[in-house]
Amino acid sequence: MLKQEIEDGTRSFADPAFRADVIDGLTRRPRAIPARWFYDHRGSELFEAITELPEYYPTRTETALLRSVAGEISERVGPGRAMVEFGSGSSTKTPIVLQALDPSAYVPIDISGDFLRESSRALCERFPGLPVFPVEADFLKPIALPHQVHTAPKLGFFPGSTIGNMIPLSSTDLLRAMRASLGEGAMLLIGMDRIKDVGVLERAYDDAAGVTAQFNLNLLERINRELDGTIPIDAFRHRAIWNDDRARIEMHLEAVRDVVFTVEGRPFEMSAGETIHTENSHKYGRRDARLLLRSGGWTPIAEWTDPDDQFALYLAEAQPPRPAP
Ligand code: AVJ
Repeated sequence: MLKQEIEDGTRSFADPAFRADVIDGLTRRPRAIPARWFYDHRGSELFEAITELPEYYPTRTETALLRSVAGEISERVGPGRAMVEFGSGSSTKTPIVLQALDPSAYVPIDISGDFLRESSRALCERFPGLPVFPVEADFLKPIALPHQVHTAPKLGFFPGSTIGNMIPLSSTDLLRAMRASLGEGAMLLIGMDRIKDVGVLERAYDDAAGVTAQFNLNLLERINRELDGTIPIDAFRHRAIWNDDRARIEMHLEAVRDVVFTVEGRPFEMSAGETIHTENSHKYGRRDARLLLRSGGWTPIAEWTDPDDQFALYLAEAQPPRPAP
């Protein structure tokens, strides 16, 4: 790297895990890079913009649903729990739940310390009486919670249908890790997006303004920026396809012509029509959602949906250590 580049900040230092996932992902067949790498600063901004698109129904549907059922959730959850959020929290959804539940403490868990500190500061201002204990960690693994909340029963909060990014093997692993982290007697409030009309789904992931396309293509720009890549962005186009067999929207980056490029000096080539798979967004029917929760060690005890059954919220209880057959 040139000294000038360092001073300009035109090349930032790469996360070794990002490098490994990109090199491995471009080498394997089919090519695939994990969706978590979308969220650099620009990617997070683009995701925020997605949540405001007319075609992207999940965020506004879940937010409205939370508003309308917050009172009922609060009745089912009861007082005195410590609320543990997986992800550093959205500035709209989290306050709705905190306001209604009045938990004994709030523990946001996020892998990005920067986001965590920013969002925690904002919440402390808005809820001055609420003890907040941020934890910088990868929530895909079991987590030791802060000692201040050890004795309180927990409520996990996992909105946004983020679970949908994971294949079934990983989503059950995650649910089990959450159960282990939250302990006996825990509850979980989780958002899951429904299977619905294919046109509605595909438009939600391929909007007319092209914001989702930019979000997807930004991954290539990030590779060029952080891993010294030479990918010609204009050689790729965004694709969003419903995979009915697996009940998921898949996002891909498709080469529109034969293309060669390097990443950290390593050569790669793709033929026109070949793709890099960049995201899965699984959708769940009523029974699918309940089966997934049970498979992950959680018993669903309540379900809420919007009037059009577009998006669902589940409240579940941690299965006791030795459940009945
Ligand atoms: C943040 C994973 C819930 O799958 O709907 C939005 C990400 N990708 N548009 C989703 C996303 C393209 C989003 N989640």
